[in-house]
Amino acid sequence: MEEFAEVKISGKSYELPVITGTEDEKGIDITKLRALSGAITLDSGFKNTGATKSAVTYLDGENGILRYRGYSIEELAEKASFMEVSYLLINGELPTTAQLSEFEGEITNHTLIHEDMKRFFEAYPSKAHPMGIVASLLCSLSTFYPDSQNPNRTEEEIELTIFRLLAKLPTIAAWAYKNFVGHPVVYPKNELNYGDNFLNMMFSLPSEDYKIDPVVSDALNKLLILHADHEQNCSASTVRIVGSSHANLYSSISAGVIALWGPLHGGANQAVIEMLESIHADGSPLEDWINKAKDKNDPFRLMGFGHRVYKNFDPRAKIIKKAADDVLSKLGINDPLIDIAKQLEEVALNDEYFKARNLYPNVDFYSGIIYKALGIPTEMFTVMFALGRLPGWIAQWKEMIENKEPIGRPRQIYTGENERSFVTAEKR
Ligand code: CMC
Repeated sequence: MEEFAEVKISGKSYELPVITGTEDEKGIDITKLRALSGAITLDSGFKNTGATKSAVTYLDGENGILRYRGYSIEELAEKASFMEVSYLLINGELPTTAQLSEFEGEITNHTLIHEDMKRFFEAYPSKAHPMGIVASLLCSLSTFYPDSQNPNRTEEEIELTIFRLLAKLPTIAAWAYKNFVGHPVVYPKNELNYGDNFLNMMFSLPSEDYKIDPVVSDALNKLLILHADHEQNCSASTVRIVGSSHANLYSSISAGVIALWGPLHGGANQAVIEMLESIHADGSPLEDWINKAKDKNDPFRLMGFGHRVYKNFDPRAKIIKKAADDVLSKLGINDPLIDIAKQLEEVALNDEYFKARNLYPNVDFYSGIIYKALGIPTEMFTVMFALGRLPGWIAQWKEMIENKEPIGRPRQIYTGENERSFVTAEKR
């Protein structure tokens, strides 16, 4: 039976349809509200606004549930490869053996970037943040493949762009790191799997081949899967909104990378490690840091804590916390930062301020500790997040295009001056 919501504005009632998702979540369809009543809705930060209907990822923040295309994050992190998950997100179903091997084959075929792009790296300052380089080079790909700029591409052309993006991001990311440390770049090795090829390009040196440790390889696979999608977050919404103007896919993804860079989003993983290092170096009691985070006059926040949608726990954080313990013990690393992180979590979870606001550790709280153990420098942490998030951004963009969604263009409530006349400078 069709359901309606009643909205009363200036004494007049309007009926608006209520739509229900496959997990029974409800939304009021306000598409016609302005035409009917002249009013719009206002929701700063879109805290209560659905931007789209989507079949990619289901997230229940109250119960700590995250599923890609119906599969739980716990099961995927345990049993799947990142390539299977990428295929799943982009195409909607898990691949058969033949489909997976074709998908991996196509990606492997496109791992090289044009030699002219190598010169871009030389022009960046040596300590350029890798996120800035990655975003610029992803956008630059559209100039090397000008066909991608045609908004009326065929399905095959779109698929080729998707393969190129998935194939080239690890190369661009690893080369941005090489620029950061001032080492020569390492070319892709096509006999290696997706994650191992990335590790090899990051850590091999002309003098010494990198030996891939299966513990490191497994941990990377898990981390990439855990980051692969997170429905309509800041960067996915950016990719969808930029793509909705029919800007090309490379540039839409590049915009997503920039949105991810901020410390309130993916940049939090770098900020967490920097915070833990400051706590370690400072040596003051953890309570002092907690009090700082609670003080409204102090801009400091407990990085890696809190989430817009998770109000109970972040299921990714649970898996990552365990993975961090496993990786550190298997690699025989004793990192004081993990002890500080655990103590901080304990203190915060028992503190009234954090309890009252439902602030729990998020995905970024422990991920940096694993990246650090894998030998990845802090400045690369958010790039690692981008590497994992790429199939999710692609899936979100593809869905938006296939659903023929209109250009994203929010409205506003104007609060400025009413009309007034121009006054010449000498009379002001
Ligand atoms: N430390 C201290 N107080 C906090 C924190 C924190 N990390 N997070 C939220 N609060 C307080 C905030 O001050 C506010 O208090 P009050 O109600 O008294 O004004 C209340 O909790 C609600 O916070 P909010 O900023 O309105 O919540 P939001 O949903 O707009 O923001 C958030 C979510 C993730 C931006 C925020 O929790 C935060 O800044 N966390 C730290 C940064 C971080 O770890 N980001 C990574 C998110 S997970 C990766 C991803 O998917 O992007």
